[in-house]
Amino acid sequence: MPEYLEVAVEIAREAGALIAQLAQRPHEIIYKRPSDLVTEADRRSESLIVERLRSHFPPHAIVAEEGGGRETNSDYCWYVDPLDGTTNFAHGFPVYCVSLGLAYRGEVIAGVVYDPTRDELFTAERGAGAYLNHKRLAVSKTSALRESLLATGFPPFAANHEINIEFFFRLTQRSHGIRRAGSAALDLCSVAAARFDGFWELKLNPWDKAAGALMVLEAGGKVTDLAGHPFALLEDEIFASNGHIHEESVRVFSEALAQREERA
Ligand code: IPD
Ligand code: CA
Ligand code: CA
Repeated sequence: MPEYLEVAVEIAREAGALIAQLAQRPHEIIYKRPSDLVTEADRRSESLIVERLRSHFPPHAIVAEEGGGRETNSDYCWYVDPLDGTTNFAHGFPVYCVSLGLAYRGEVIAGVVYDPTRDELFTAERGAGAYLNHKRLAVSKTSALRESLLATGFPPFAANHEINIEFFFRLTQRSHGIRRAGSAALDLCSVAAARFDGFWELKLNPWDKAAGALMVLEAGGKVTDLAGHPFALLEDEIFASNGHIHEESVRVFSEALAQREERA
């Protein structure tokens, strides 16, 4: 394992343990916007992660969700989601994680996602595969949408909800169903681990998806936008799948978009 991945694993485990400990206590919810929450756990986890990254890799840039990052001239940049699934955490629904992705010149080269509730550690290195607790991951072999289990998410503020509900409606009718569990990083890891056959979301930040997208690619899956164009870390949309159901799903997204335009 390269040093940066080893260090990221250690940090993600430490931050995960902190979150698990804070989950046992009552937590105050602070509102960034209506329905956009932040807790002490998000802030403390971020401070811990940023401090550790800075001491291990002083020149590296850091983009962290709660604003604790720093700009540098380095080609290396860490994308940090100190607690992905804050709404779940705040309500005591045990689906959340820590997500760290490292990009070199804009391309993700390593990712770590740690789920403290299940003690599941997902790791990926570009060109060297994806692993869950040291076991190599491979995406599912499901070849038809009608036999697929899918997942999606809705950003905490009302952007694009209508069209996503339309996608949700159409894909529910054509698959085994859609899960909306509330942690995009874990959703992506579930595609890598063959638990889901596909996951899409319309508006994600780079810290939500950097590590998870690499996980899917390294497990042999496909990652694009909803039109099937290559994945770009700084773009909002993502559609990640096992590859086999990709084209069929992209057709459903584009049918829904075309019908919406006709109605407008
Ligand atoms: C959110 C979760 C959720 C997704 C939202 C994200 P947060 O991240 O990943 O599943 O639907 O778009 O913002 O706020 O819990 O870190
Ligand atoms: Ca997130
Ligand atoms: Ca977060």
